[in-house]
Amino acid sequence: MRDRTAGLSAAAQHAHDFLDGLDGRPVAARVDAAGVREALGGPLPEHGEDPTAVIDALAAGAEPGLVATAGPRHFGFVIGGALPAALAAEWLVSAWDQNAAFHALSPAAAAIEEITSAWIVDVLGLPSGASVGFVTGGQAANTTCLAAARHAVLAKAGWNVEDDGLIGAPRVRIFCGEHAHATIDTALRLLGLGGSTAVRIAADDQGRMLPDALAEALASSTGPAIVCAQAGNVATGAFDAFDPIADACAAHGAWLHVDGAFGLWAAATPALRHLTTGVDRADSWAVDAHKWLNVPYDSAMAIVADPGAHTAAMSLAGPYLVADPGQRDSTNYVPESSRRARVIPVYAALRSLGRTGVADLVDRNCVQARRMAERLANIPGVRIVNDVVLNQVLVALPGGDDANRAAVSAIQRDGTCWLGGTTWNGRYVLRVSVSNWSTTDADIDRSAEAIARAAHASTAEP
Ligand SMILES: Cc1ncc(COP(=O)(O)O)c(C=O)c1O
Repeated sequence: MRDRTAGLSAAAQHAHDFLDGLDGRPVAARVDAAGVREALGGPLPEHGEDPTAVIDALAAGAEPGLVATAGPRHFGFVIGGALPAALAAEWLVSAWDQNAAFHALSPAAAAIEEITSAWIVDVLGLPSGASVGFVTGGQAANTTCLAAARHAVLAKAGWNVEDDGLIGAPRVRIFCGEHAHATIDTALRLLGLGGSTAVRIAADDQGRMLPDALAEALASSTGPAIVCAQAGNVATGAFDAFDPIADACAAHGAWLHVDGAFGLWAAATPALRHLTTGVDRADSWAVDAHKWLNVPYDSAMAIVADPGAHTAAMSLAGPYLVADPGQRDSTNYVPESSRRARVIPVYAALRSLGRTGVADLVDRNCVQARRMAERLANIPGVRIVNDVVLNQVLVALPGGDDANRAAVSAIQRDGTCWLGGTTWNGRYVLRVSVSNWSTTDADIDRSAEAIARAAHASTAEP
């Protein structure tokens, strides 16, 4: 009899060891890629190895090169951890090995996508009936939503972009805030809309697009238009003002897309929902699950108010493909054909948290971001650069850009926590993002002390 489970016990043991050590290990990797290559590289083996031996070698070789991004003191980028139910469900996804493209291939995946779509739309306060595609990340979600937008605005202008492409099509005008995330540019490039032809709308010092400037720009020309707004700036956490932006879009017939990779989760908590007022008036939304919902990588949702526009842009058909009338063929909502059932951990995360648990997670991280800001603001010469409205904190340590860069490197080397830097309003600053379910107040305090030590060292140096 075939042994289908060889290696699973070893993998479970390595996973336990890793997770049990996550709180205590230095956050940064101990070796760079060269160290891992040395342990795991070499020519392709001529003969195969026993699965358990492969897993043991893999775990031993990769371990020093792992970053504790899933742990409680990784404050770089915007990185969530993995909720226990979501992680366990992720294991089942691999064991079940479902192809979630078609209902015919997995009624379970199709049904769980339907259920989870309704939960997501509900918890985020978006229009019921909006369609959801389960994609890899914010990049794919923005691209999928903007493909739906491209379809809709061109269809309104009498042009079928799916059949006829963009050559000869009416020009689509794109408007983005000047601090739109880089993945919007990539999405526009992929869709043939041009990353640099987008009109950049001026923003305020927190990165919020100026609605009057948008209205003026929309009024200055005519034709199909797409506006990309943002819920949660990746540096400051700031939110665009959706009501006046939606008014301007409505006045000019523009499609409104919201990149809410992490910030859209603010809509799930009564304490922060005010930040997203009017966001439900948009036509499409991108939101990650692997960030603030703490689902293991990779996982995000592309949500479109008009399912017809969504499926017109994404649908897949072919003579051997089995379309079950009345059933959800999930491929029609995403760019991929074959794909893993990545919805399942999203379902598990939402079910294990419930509505109140999602709100608690988001609220707790935001309180912790304010706690971090307060601790750091007490260090002489330190300035908090942004309004800490969400989970993001921008910190200017004493000294210039070089001193701040040196401090970031020192903090990463120290290993207590991990954070990165960014340039904001012309200055290099430290960037703290609190988005992990397992972060405690003690983690914040310990990390603030490590940052204080680096600040002290950077000013003490000649
Ligand atoms: C506002 C915003 N949009 C898009 C993205 C890209 O998301 P992903 O890395 O999941 O593709 C990010 C990532 O931090 C983000 O903050």
